[in-house]
Amino acid sequence: MPTLHALCRAVSPAMLDCELSFIGREPIDLALANTQHNAYVKALRALNVEVVELPAEAALPDSVFVEDTVLLFDELAVMTRPGAQSRRAEVASIEAAFSAHREIIARIFEPGTLDGGDVLQIGKRVFVGLSQRSNQAAIEQLSACLTPFGYQVIAVPMQDCLHLKSAVTALSDDTVLINPDWVDVDYFKDYQQIYVAKSEPHAANLVRIALTASTSSASDMESILMPANFPETEVLIRAAGFALHTVDVSEFQKAEGAVTCCSVLFYV
Ligand code: GLY
Repeated sequence: MPTLHALCRAVSPAMLDCELSFIGREPIDLALANTQHNAYVKALRALNVEVVELPAEAALPDSVFVEDTVLLFDELAVMTRPGAQSRRAEVASIEAAFSAHREIIARIFEPGTLDGGDVLQIGKRVFVGLSQRSNQAAIEQLSACLTPFGYQVIAVPMQDCLHLKSAVTALSDDTVLINPDWVDVDYFKDYQQIYVAKSEPHAANLVRIALTASTSSASDMESILMPANFPETEVLIRAAGFALHTVDVSEFQKAEGAVTCCSVLFYV
C-alpha cells in the first residue's frame, strides 16, 4: 500500500529577506524558526508521515516553503514556475529530489506562473487560485497536463491574501475550512464548509494528513495539523469531529507562510 511521505527543506539563513505581499515586515527570530521547523518535522513523523529533509538553500530566502515548487499527483509531478522571480531558482533541487518518485515530470513554462500554495486538490478536482502569483496561462497548462489523467482543473478568483490555500484547505474529501472574505464560497458549494473564526482570518491553512491514498473509508487514518495560534477556529474543527494537532509556526507566519507551505506531501 502506498505510504505518505513529506518533503521538507531546512530554513534558509536568508529567510529574513523573504517575499512579503499582504503583510508588513516584522523581525524574524531565525533560531526560533529553526526550532519551529524541527518541531514541525517531528509532528509529521509523530503522525506516521515519512519525512525526507533537504538541506537549506542559503541564497534562497523563501526556500523553506517547498510546497510552492511542485505539485505531486499519483500519476505525475508538475514542476511549477513560481510567480515571484526570487523564488524560481528553488525549483531545480526539488525536481532532482522528485525525479526518483515520478516517471512523468511536467513543467509550467513562460508566460505561466504558478505557486503550489495556490493549488488545492480534493480527489479528482484541482482548484487553482488566480492570485498575484498564479495566472490563467499556468492554469491552462496545468489543465492540459492533468485532464488526460481524469482531473478537473478549476480556476478560482480570490482576493486579499497570498495563496488560495491561505483562504481555503480541505479537512477531508467532503469538508473544507474557508475564509469567506477571501474567496467565493460558491466555488466550494459541493463541500460542507466550516468558516474560520472572524477574528482569525489566517486560520484556513491546515495540513490534512491522510495516511492512505484512498481515504474515504479510513477516518482513523486521518488527522489535521494546524497552527497553534488560532484557538477559536481550532474549537470549531474539533467540534466537527476532526483529530487535530497544533504546531507553533509564528516565525513562518511572519514570512507569509503557514503549515501547508513547509512540506510537499506525496505517496510512494
Ligand atoms: N514569503 C512567502 C512568499 O511570498 O512566497
